[in-house]
Amino acid sequence: MEYLYGLLFGTEPKQSDADARTALHAKLDALPDDRDAQITLTAAELRILKEATTTTRQKHGGGDELFVRMHSNLTEDLDPSTADAVVDAYGASPLKPNPLAKRRPSPETPQLRKACKNAVADLISERQLASSVPKERRKTLEMALSEVNAWGFDVWSVVDAFQGDTLLASRAIVDAVVFEARGFRAASTSHILRQVVSKMLASYQDVPYHNCLHGADVLQAMHALLNLAPTFDDALDDDVVLVTLLACLSHDVGHPGLTNNFLVETGHELAIRYNDASPLENMHAAVALNLAKPYLRTRPPADQKQNRALWIGLLLATDMKEHSQQIFELERALSKSKERGATYEACTPEHHVPCLKVFIHACDVSNPAKPWAVYRRWTALVMEEFWRQAELERERGLPLTVPARDATDLAQFQKGFIAFIRPLFAAADRIGGVDMSLPLERLDDTARRWQSPRAEAYDDDVRE
Ligand code: CMP
Ligand code: MG
Ligand code: ZN
Repeated sequence: MEYLYGLLFGTEPKQSDADARTALHAKLDALPDDRDAQITLTAAELRILKEATTTTRQKHGGGDELFVRMHSNLTEDLDPSTADAVVDAYGASPLKPNPLAKRRPSPETPQLRKACKNAVADLISERQLASSVPKERRKTLEMALSEVNAWGFDVWSVVDAFQGDTLLASRAIVDAVVFEARGFRAASTSHILRQVVSKMLASYQDVPYHNCLHGADVLQAMHALLNLAPTFDDALDDDVVLVTLLACLSHDVGHPGLTNNFLVETGHELAIRYNDASPLENMHAAVALNLAKPYLRTRPPADQKQNRALWIGLLLATDMKEHSQQIFELERALSKSKERGATYEACTPEHHVPCLKVFIHACDVSNPAKPWAVYRRWTALVMEEFWRQAELERERGLPLTVPARDATDLAQFQKGFIAFIRPLFAAADRIGGVDMSLPLERLDDTARRWQSPRAEAYDDDVRE
């Protein structure tokens, strides 16, 4: 029964994940192609198998049969009173085999078993993130990830360590923040959380800037910004912190690499669906919350509602169209408090959500507030995406709404962008318990570099 305690109450299994993965691999390899073959798994192995095969089982309908048979020997001595808890933990019952399956062999079983093995192999390679990095780059990765709590964190060192694989780099960053630094690995639902994270990362498109790395970067920036505001961070419920981090991770999910303007001007299906109102952000929220369902369902009903509302609010607050209004409202709230001789404090419960909206938006536009070399790589990518859109606009005879490749004064454009976003950081810095001095210093440093006629010479520092 020991495995059940790990399963139900989230206590650390004795077997390490690495050992469990190796053992699971060996057991699956040894499994004969006999549909009644039995396999005995420990709790850790079972969790890893379950995580690895969820999508596979969904894709290959009937997969639960195999899953049930694999685990029937584990569950037969289960006390019926704990059955519901297992169902909750799994989202499906491993206890009720389909009676038809006993009589009619499923023709899909061999493919399914192969698919399960492949899924486990994929998972194993994904999970062995550090060890999948060549030896000579491992040190770089360790050093880069050791800075994950800091505002100046260099995402590109992680990407370089994974030889340009942004999906693996993003996973490593999310793992380091969510499961290591923030400690959500201890949650009894952490296996569901990991699946949700994987799906979110996989639902980003392969576009130059708005890919999964940008999601992971905004998540890390939020984590670092909360670290710079410890009283606010402490005042937030763990649940709120987790939803906020996941909202950051998913805030641009499915982004097609085109702006709202473009979608509206071209009558894109997203603009039609959302009546031209923040089509991208509405889509990101709809996709993200759909992917988040398995996690949200693990929460009590009242929290589910609150989490959903928070998530939607945070995602809609990332529309650049809200930028000036957001600053205006924040400044008004700051002045009102000042008139009363008080400070607008982030940790006052009714200020939590407005402050988190300011934070997510600030993180989203924060690349010029990062070290120059980090910022310059982001800028190259965001410009590439704009330039591709400008080419489409030209092809279609539309007025240009973004800079064109052959007509970009980069220094001018970047100085304009920095001047546009600086008031947000400056206003946020006036919130009680929030310290934006480091991002502001960096923003000013970046702006100063662009002032220099030799600004592009700094690009020598930039690794491409
Ligand atoms: P998105 O991430 O959806 O929301 C914030 C937007 O800011 C982003 O899309 C880009 O359009 C824009 N942005 C971010 N970084 C830069 C930058 N360095 N230069 C110009 N625009 C940027
Ligand atoms: Mg966006
Ligand atoms: Zn974004």
